[in-house]
Amino acid sequence: MLTRMEILDKVLKKSKFHGLEIGTLRGDFVCYFLEKYKECRITSIDKDPFKLDSHIDVEYRTEKYKDRYILIIEDSLTAWEKIIGVKYDFVFIDGDHSYSMTMADIKNYKNNVIKGGILCGHNYDKDVNPNNAHPGVKRAVDEVFGNRVTINSDDAFWWVKL
Ligand SMILES: C[S@@+](CC[C@H](N)C(=O)[O-])C[C@H]1O[C@@H](n2cnc3c(N)ncnc32)[C@H](O)[C@@H]1O
Repeated sequence: MLTRMEILDKVLKKSKFHGLEIGTLRGDFVCYFLEKYKECRITSIDKDPFKLDSHIDVEYRTEKYKDRYILIIEDSLTAWEKIIGVKYDFVFIDGDHSYSMTMADIKNYKNNVIKGGILCGHNYDKDVNPNNAHPGVKRAVDEVFGNRVTINSDDAFWWVKL
């Protein structure tokens, strides 16, 4: 059973890249890549990454990577205005999983993916893993990408090459 990070790792096939994550929480996703690839750079956006009230939060965990990691604490609905024109090898969408917000994140942030880069996300409802099921994600992804999308049901991961 692969995690969302391991699946993206296989799809990306790069050790030097610039990535963007929408929805960070404790930083599990970013720490996987920052730890594994010393030349990667990652930016992430989260409107409330400290909600779990733990001292082991994303800022603490990424302290040693601060030359390669940026955390933007803001709603993804407005944060995209700060990175207009910035291009990433991948954008990983894992913030608000409602239909309307997934649709907004796809439409706003697909413009930040390089040609040939990867737009992807978590929690695509494939009816195989009820813990990861978010029907709004599936609806939005299917509406925009139809059969261009690839699903890996191991961790309800979806991706498309742009
Ligand atoms: C499932 S967690 C992210 C987990 C993380 N991507 C990982 O793989 O470890 C979802 C996060 O999205 C954030 N979030 C929810 N709605 C958001 C929004 N509209 N803008 C920015 N962040 C949002 C929440 O604060 C939460 O920390």
